[in-house]
This record gives sequence, structure tokens and C-alpha cells, in this order.
Amino acid sequence: MSENAYLVIKDLVVAPSSDPSKHILQGISLTVKPGEVHAIMGPNGSGKTTLSYALMGHPSYQIVSGSVTWKGENLLDYSADQRARLGLFLAFQYPTSIPGLSVASFLRTAMNARRSGLVRDPEFDPSDPVKGGMTMGEFRKLVIEKLTQLKVDEAFMTRYVNDGFSGGEKKRLEMLQMALLKPEMAILDETDSGLDIDALRIVAEGVNTMLSPELGVLVITHYQRLLDYLKPQFVHVLARGRIVVSGGPDLAHRLEREGYAPILAENGINPTADEAATPTAAPAPSA
Ligand SMILES: Nc1ncnc2c1ncn2[C@@H]1O[C@H](COP(=O)(O)OP(=O)(O)OP(=O)(O)O)[C@@H](O)[C@H]1O
Ligand SMILES: [Mg+2]
Repeated sequence: MSENAYLVIKDLVVAPSSDPSKHILQGISLTVKPGEVHAIMGPNGSGKTTLSYALMGHPSYQIVSGSVTWKGENLLDYSADQRARLGLFLAFQYPTSIPGLSVASFLRTAMNARRSGLVRDPEFDPSDPVKGGMTMGEFRKLVIEKLTQLKVDEAFMTRYVNDGFSGGEKKRLEMLQMALLKPEMAILDETDSGLDIDALRIVAEGVNTMLSPELGVLVITHYQRLLDYLKPQFVHVLARGRIVVSGGPDLAHRLEREGYAPILAENGINPTADEAATPTAAPAPSA
């Protein structure tokens, strides 16, 4: 398969825009092909969210050096919204609330933008059924199908985006967006955090139904329990801004048993107390 078909990250060095000398990511190289699921695990503060933001074009982060290509094009040339139109998707670790904007309007606008793609076709207007767009009825039908799958109440649609949402509701809205936007490359940043065991199963099964030979996935997690559902073929351990070791599913099982300390030590990193204390086993379900 040619590089023109997937995501290629080479020697990526990233710093906060506010402090370009602080290299949070210190040379990340990673390739995600369609149909592949890659897990990124790593201690708190290792740079996982920074990687997801850098890939998505978050303005708070600056690319110091290295490259990212998506289907052969320089992804770094594009703004965050253009990257989304190109088929990239990020499910946030901490979704933001947008009081005043209803979930329904938000989703419809986002879907229309995604369906328009990057280059405007004057013959196609996703908001106009006469020009190939979705009717309100079609939109509703699609949304209700996905709401049902994610076991979310329809009343969700009239609420403001993430405003007063529980942690679990926020994560479900992220998955609802993914289901509707149909990305080709999805980054899930701790989509499992803060979910009870039932919510985790619903969300994980939701993601599972979206997996396809066309979709590349980068799933950031601390816990094996999400990986039980998503079954990544590749697992990478990120520490101090570098991928220190990559392997298969066994690597995640090992982290769950042993924590980060032994694997970091084996790779020449003397773990700090915080790194050694980052939990890798999810707390037992309370019910
Ligand atoms: N905008 C920023 N300005 C300054 N420092 C930052 C910024 N963003 C992240 N950092 C720092 O970079 C490091 C990596 O942060 P990041 O959020 O990427 O970690 P993470 O691996 O996602 O951690 P967690 O598992 O807790 O979510 C941390 O030390 C963090 O404080
Ligand atoms: Mg994070």
C-alpha cells in the first residue's frame, strides 16, 4: 500500500506555542494504515494528548520539526477544520461545553461541513436537499439510529453541547459525532475514562461497529479493558515524549499486570514516582 493512502508521522517534535523551547514530543514516528488499530499507552504527562492535538492542528501547539502526511499530503498545511473535512477525527479527553449551541445544530453543521469536503463543489450543497443535501427527515433518522446504538435519550439533541453533561454523556457525544462524521482516521483520547462498566461496554461496542477496513484508529488509553473490545494490532508505549517500545496486544496485557516501571527501566528510563504510579489496571466495577 502506498503512503498516499494513510497517516505517516515522522520524527515529530512538538512544543506549546507559548513556550517553543519546551519539547513535549521529542521525535515521534508512527504509521497508521486503513483498517489498523493502534493503541498508545503511557504514564500521565507523557505527551499522549499533545500528540492528538498536534495531529488535529490545535493552535496551542507548535510543530518544531518533523512531518505528518495524510494520504500523501502535508497535513501540517491544513487548519483543524480542514483536517476534519479531510477525514480526521479527534474524540477529546476533556470535551468542552458550548452553552447556547444545541447538539442537533452542532451535529448537523459538522456533518454538512464533513460532507462538503475540502473543495467546494457548486453543484453540491449538503444543507439543500435539492442540491444533493440531507433532508431534515434523513438527518433525524440517521441520528436516531446512532442514538439508539449508543443508548442515548433523544432529549440529548435539544441540550447545549456538553453543557451540564455527565462525564459518560460527554464521551457518548464524542462517539455520536464519530458515528455521524464517518472519519477515515480517528483518534480516541481516553474515551474510556470516567465510564462505569456498562457505559464502557456501550461506548466500546459503538466504536467496534465503526471499525472497518477503511478506518485507521489511534486509541489512547490507560486500560486494557477498552482494548479487550477494540483489539489493537499494535501497542506503543509513550514516555517523556518518545515511543519507547512498540509491540502487539501482549504489551498492553503486560502493562496491566506490571505497571509502567519495569518496561521503562528495560528501555533505559529510570521511572519517576509519578510514572511508576500511573495506574494501568482499571478499578474493579462497583456493581
Ligand atoms: N499548552 C501547554 N503548555 C505547557 N505545557 C503543556 C501544554 N500542554 C501540555 N503540556 C505539558 O506537556 C506534558 C504532556 O501533557 P499531555 O497532556 O500531552 O500528557 P498525557 O500523556 O495526555 O497525560 P494524561 O495521561 O494525564 O492525559 C505535561 O507535562 C503537560 O503539563
Ligand atoms: Mg491526556
